Order: sequence, then structure tokens, then C-alpha cells
Amino acid sequence: MSEDTPKHGMGDPDYENEDGEKKTLTTNSGEPVPDNQNSRSAGPEGPLLMEDYHYFEKMAQFNREEIPERIVHAKGGGAFGTFTVTNDEISDYTMADMFSEEGKETDLVVRFSTVAGSRGAPDTVRDPRGFAVKFYTEEGNWDMVGNNTPVFFIRDPSKFPDFIHTQKEVPGSGLNDPTPQWDFWSLSPESLHQITTLFSERGIPASWRHMNGYSSHTLSLYNDEGERYWVKFHFKTDQGIENLDPEKAKELAGENPHYHREDLWTAIEEGNYPTWTLKVQIMPEEEAEEYDINPFDLTRVWPHDDYPLIEVGTMELNENPDNFFQDVEESAFSPAHVVPGIAHSPDKMLQGRIPSYDDAHRYRLGANFEDIPVNQPKNAEKANYHQNGFMRSDGNNGAGPNYEPNSFGGPVEKPEVEQPPLNISGDADRYEMQERIDNYKQPGDMFRDVMSEEQRDHLMDNFADSMEPVDETIQRRQLAHFYKADPDWGRGVAERLDLDIEDAVDDELLEADDDEVAEAPVVAELL
Ligand code: NDP
Ligand code: HEM
Repeated sequence: MSEDTPKHGMGDPDYENEDGEKKTLTTNSGEPVPDNQNSRSAGPEGPLLMEDYHYFEKMAQFNREEIPERIVHAKGGGAFGTFTVTNDEISDYTMADMFSEEGKETDLVVRFSTVAGSRGAPDTVRDPRGFAVKFYTEEGNWDMVGNNTPVFFIRDPSKFPDFIHTQKEVPGSGLNDPTPQWDFWSLSPESLHQITTLFSERGIPASWRHMNGYSSHTLSLYNDEGERYWVKFHFKTDQGIENLDPEKAKELAGENPHYHREDLWTAIEEGNYPTWTLKVQIMPEEEAEEYDINPFDLTRVWPHDDYPLIEVGTMELNENPDNFFQDVEESAFSPAHVVPGIAHSPDKMLQGRIPSYDDAHRYRLGANFEDIPVNQPKNAEKANYHQNGFMRSDGNNGAGPNYEPNSFGGPVEKPEVEQPPLNISGDADRYEMQERIDNYKQPGDMFRDVMSEEQRDHLMDNFADSMEPVDETIQRRQLAHFYKADPDWGRGVAERLDLDIEDAVDDELLEADDDEVAEAPVVAELL
């Protein structure tokens, strides 16, 4: 962005010609427009003339200004920046060129978002925040499409559309109603860890600058020696974690729906560039099978004591978009986009996301969405045999051969970037994961060991406020899950809802000793 661009991006100096004069207004084909205020009519009082092409073009463009919004994460904002490696220990684990040496810089674009709301929805609501980073590496674009939470609501991707439906307006009235979400969550106990984070103070960040980002998923790294490591990425805010009081957040949602977008824009305009320290947790490939937590279960974290964080580098956001639509709305991130040295993992959710995003982009932006400047591999050369399609405008490979193999010098494969083979086994079937699954331990740890008494109180207040309008059967089912994670948590929310916890929790669980809790059934028989 030019240094002269004033706040809010109005008055772009590109509108002036070389002599500093205003440019002539033209149609899209370059014809000067004599009058942009009065359409051509037969006499001063009309009717209009069919020959007024300028008017028709103006209206045709206007009628097509909107593109489909993202089905999730529709509301967001973004900025450009730089990643700098500060510790090249990571190059022991990966051949990725962007991590090869200390001081190495890589350009990037980031988009932050809420999940459920539509494109104009307020920023300051309780919702996970999207944390999507596109690194323009010299080996192609790597998209780290994460959230500000280290876990997620579900562990099988086939549940994703149902889950998202519960977050949006109900189909009948088109209104917001907390019933579907509590119905779904109480019937999907794997969501407990994520909703604990969501209803904690971190559920409404003070700004995008004041939150962490997580890959959430386990991904993989591989090096030149053919060794694979499982990895989780953590972007820790250097501004410190800050959150909004829920009442203040409601006020702000009414006063300024773009509160977080404006905060980021203003900070960057003022030269107050936000930074995050990128850290990784690394697990050697062979440890995955032995670890008592399934490392590919997106509802669980790797405790820091087991896999300590290793510093990698700093991400700084230092450039606002020149044009919000072109740089942010048309940005397209995808977990499928990796580079040599970085790859996926068996995490079923991650596998489910790999085809989903580019499919969404082809619907939202068209088959050639990677020709849009913000999505181009800016620091790598794209070379392949794909051709044609709507809006293809990058030269379309000129007159070069459009098939492979060929004898005319077209692009060729690079076998040395292939990831090491991954041993997998098992009968093809539909499985509900059973082994190394525990929906309650980590949420319980967070409640007991991570949160202060005040934070626990706020958590239980936030749960009760949200559940208060919901049918009692659903409330009781959810209370039993809280109780299983920690009895004080179940009792605390029950009291706030004026319910008796004994009515919600299965007798066997109520009477269980500590070592029997894990196996005990959860929910009492409900009427
Ligand atoms: P640690 O004590 O090392 O980590 C606890 C982590 O909890 C902190 O590092 C912080 O993550 C996060 N945290 C602190 N306060 C809050 C809050 N109010 N709301 C949400 N998260 C908060 O212990 P463990 O690694 O053994 O993890 C214990 C529990 O902490 C886990 O079961 C999980 O629920 C939660 N947690 C763990 C994370 C991990 O990757 N290990 C990450 C986030 C939460 P951060 O440093 O990322 O800000
Ligand atoms: C956006 C699918 C889970 C983070 C999207 C989009 C789709 C999608 C279709 C819209 C893409 C677009 O139109 O640009 C899915 C599916 C999931 C899933 C099928 C599970 C099976 C997750 C998880 C995370 C996540 C677990 C984080 C860890 C994001 C982010 C965006 C997004 C950050 C917005 C990207 C942007 O800013 O443009 N998702 N998602 N999603 N998703 Fe997911």
C-alpha cells in the first residue's frame, strides 16, 4: 500500500494522471464518459433511451457486485506482513525452504474472521476466530488455515455441515436460537473441550491482535533424510491475550460491527505493527502409536509438558489492504496448499478439509481463483498443463504443450520433494473412534488446573446465560457432561439454572469413585 493512502483507503492517488490531474472517467472498454450524473432521455422528463450504454454497463456491473459469501467465516478482515525465522532448529525436521535459515523472510497475508455470522455481522460475538495465514514461499504458497482455539467441536468431518447449521439462523423463522447448538453439543460430547474454550474469557477476544492462532490439527514435517515428524503450530500473540467483557462486547456489536476490523486497520495505519511468535510442538513419527492421547484427534491438545513448544520465528503484520474486496474478500485459503517439507496427517478432520476448501473457492470465485493477485504464488512460478476456464487471464500457458509427457520442454516432475511413505493399515469401514478417546479429561484439566476461581465463575455464568432459554431436557443432558468433567462444574451451572444436578446425571456416575468415573455412563434417563 502506498504511504500516502489515507485512513479508510479513500482518495487513492492512482486516480491522478502523470501531470497530477484527475483521470478521465471511462467505460470498461476505455470510452470517455461525458456525463455520469444524467442518463440520456428523450426530453428532460424522459423516457430513457435504450442507447445509453454507459448507464447499462454501470447497472450491469452494479448488479454483479456481490459474490457468494463464504459459507463459514464470512465476516473478517486481513492484512499483509512478513514472517522471519528466529530459530532454525526447525530445519532439522523439515526441508521447507522458508525455515532453512535464521533471518529468512517470507511474505504473507492473513485473514481473521468469525465463523457463524454473515458478511456484515458484528465482530464482537462469542465465536471461534479464524486465523488463516498464506505464506508466499519460494516453493509455492503454504496456507495455515487455523483458529484461535487449539481444538475443535467434532472429530469426524461428516458432522461439519450439521454442526454449522446449528450455529446459523434456524430455518423456520430465520432467527437466532441457542436450542440447536445446545442440542447438538449435548448429543456430541466430543465438543466439550472446544465449548470450554469458547465460553471462557477467550471466546470474545479484545481484538484480533490480542489472540493466539493454532493449526489445531496435527500436520507433518519431513526432512531430506526422509524422516517424518508430527507437528502442531502455535502463533502466540506478542500483544498479550486480552478479552472483552461480554456486556461491553454486546454494546460494541451495536455501535461498531467492524470493531475488530477497524482495530487492526488502525494499528497498522499508525505503524503499531502486531506480531506473533510462531512455536511448534514436534512428535517423532514413531511416538504417535504409543502416546496415550490419539495425536490425530482434533478435540485434544498435546500437553506442553509432553511436547514443549519450540520457537521458530516472528510474524509481523505491517501493510493494510489496498482494496478490501480484492485483497481480503477474494482471498482463498486452503489446508490443501502445502509446500515441500510440510504435509498432512491422518487426522480425519484435516483429511475432510483437504478437498473442501478449493471446491468452495471454485464455487465462490471461479475455477481460476488462483489467478487473483492475493492468491497467486507470488514468490514461486506456477507451471502446469491446466488450461482455460472462466476468466483465465494469466497467459494460459501460451502456445506451449498442454499435455504430459511431451517432447517440447514443458514442466516436469520433481521427485525429490515427495514425502516419505506412510505406513497405514486397517479394514476400510466407518469407525467411531474408540481407542485413546476421552472427551472429559482435558476440559476438566482446563477447568481445575488452568482457570482461576474467577475464570471458572465467569465460565459457568457464560454457560448458564447461553443455556437459559433452552429446553430443560437439553439443559440436563449438557449438565451431565459438565459434571463428568468436574462435579463442581456440573453443580455450578445447575445452580445457576435452578436445576437439580442429581436429575441430570446418571446414578452410577454420581456414586462413582475417582477411578470409576471414566467408565461410568453420563446422562440420566430423561423423560
Ligand atoms: P499448561 O499449563 O502448560 O497449559 C495451559 C494452557 O492453557 C496455557 O498455556 C494457555 O495456552 C491455555 N490457557 C490459559 N488460560 C486459558 C483460558 N482462560 N482459556 C483457555 N485457555 C487458556 O498445561 P497443558 O499443556 O497440560 O494443558 C492443560 C490444559 O490447558 C489442556 O487440557 C487444555 O484444555 C488447555 N490448553 C492447552 C494447550 C496446549 O497446547 N497444551 C493450549 C491451550 C489450552 P496458550 O499458552 O496457548 O495461550
Ligand atoms: C473457511 C470447510 C473445519 C478454519 C472454510 C470454508 C469452508 C470450510 C468450505 C469456506 C472457504 C471459502 O469459501 O473461502 C471446513 C470443513 C471443516 C472445517 C469441511 C471440517 C471438516 C475447520 C477447522 C478450522 C477451520 C477445524 C481451524 C482449525 C477455517 C478458516 C476459514 C475457514 C480460518 C476462513 C478462511 C478465510 O479467512 O478465508 N472452512 N472447515 N475450519 N475454515 Fe473451515
